[in-house]
Amino acid sequence: MTSFECQPGGRVSGSIRVPGDKSISHRSIILSSIAQGSSHITGFLQGEDSLNTLRAFQAMGVSIERDEDKLVVQGVGLHGLQKPEGVLDMGNSGTAMRLLLGLLAGQSFDTTLSGDASLSMRPMNRVIQPLQEMNALIDSQAGGLAPLRVHARTSLKAIEYRMPIASAQVKSCLLLAALYADGETTIVQPAPSRDHTEHMLRSFGCEVSSDGLEIKIRGGQTLYSTEIDIPGDISSAAFFLVAASIATDSEVTLLHVGINPTRTGVIQILNLMGADISLLNQREVGGEPVADIRVRSSTLKGIQIPEALVPLAIDEFPVLFIAAAYAVGETVLSGAQELRVKESDRIEVMAEGLKTLGIEVEAKPDGIIIQGGSMQGGEVDSHGDHRIAMAFSVASLRASGVINIRDCSNVNTSFPGFVDLARQSGLRLSSHG
Ligand code: S3P
Repeated sequence: MTSFECQPGGRVSGSIRVPGDKSISHRSIILSSIAQGSSHITGFLQGEDSLNTLRAFQAMGVSIERDEDKLVVQGVGLHGLQKPEGVLDMGNSGTAMRLLLGLLAGQSFDTTLSGDASLSMRPMNRVIQPLQEMNALIDSQAGGLAPLRVHARTSLKAIEYRMPIASAQVKSCLLLAALYADGETTIVQPAPSRDHTEHMLRSFGCEVSSDGLEIKIRGGQTLYSTEIDIPGDISSAAFFLVAASIATDSEVTLLHVGINPTRTGVIQILNLMGADISLLNQREVGGEPVADIRVRSSTLKGIQIPEALVPLAIDEFPVLFIAAAYAVGETVLSGAQELRVKESDRIEVMAEGLKTLGIEVEAKPDGIIIQGGSMQGGEVDSHGDHRIAMAFSVASLRASGVINIRDCSNVNTSFPGFVDLARQSGLRLSSHG
């Protein structure tokens, strides 16, 4: 089992390019596979999560050539996927499992989706229930858990669905199922969530209308191949945004990062805490806004995090908790119960680690209260959660002793090369095992 040993201190500097956006990478494979013609993708995330999506489509007969982060996908059209021979293993990826479930619900063959121990504990009823309303036939384990068996269906029924939670995975699952439905599906979100699926569907020539929180899509539309340039993942850049903010005498520029407004909650929250962040060279690449992000050391202060920002920063809270732990005063997060059903229970696991390192925290059912202070060294367990492992690595920059982090191999699911890039930028980190 891989563990990280992080020596205390250090300053961070330089220009960094983080790997491609994970959400966009998943979607690029899914949509180019069911499009007509060959699509060219650059900047693809070569992490285990998106590679699992890639392998699943290869298993369903899609020809995908890969040269590092460049792919050529020969689309088979909306009805051209073939029955895979075995089970489709989605590993650690909730996005892969939920999005594929939507797509597979409308196929003319049965499939089985499985995942690792963490994914097998994550709630799937949030997608199974609306898909059943669309006439999908899905068998799950008790409580709506994976492995999931999806039965063949010749056609699905268009529905109007009011989502109870702001989840891009649920929304995207239903948008994909809606392509196989008779008529127009309407999805109403309770609050904005990342909108990469809507953007990318449009770039494949598909009509999707968005009016505030309501999205409409007609079934049976043809997708046409395109070129996709995937920007750096702001969720990976977030570790360096916090690193350079908390470390002394630091300045880092993160190159070519996606700054879609449904993803930039982390920047807004850090700005409210007093961070020194500038967006440089803003441009649009393949329908997604991109910038170079410069961040410098600053004295952060504790805040009450606005609940409206929670879905827009949902993956960045582990490292935001590290920022809060070094801020002056108290940080309060509420309305974030979704953090309990991510790759780990991120409220509990972060609270446990922060307490071990000497920070005063109070975990709440839907959030956390963190008293800013100083951290000592110690041993923390990431519980196999990539973002927790990387967050505690960043914490070492201001800790007074060595932080050892257990169970770090899943860092490869979202951020291959993290250790090298972190060391190059100034973290005193080594990987063992
Ligand atoms: C994702 C959506 C988010 C996020 C996940 C990726 C996506 O999940 O946590 O890492 O690509 O759609 P929810 O939409 O369920 O919050």
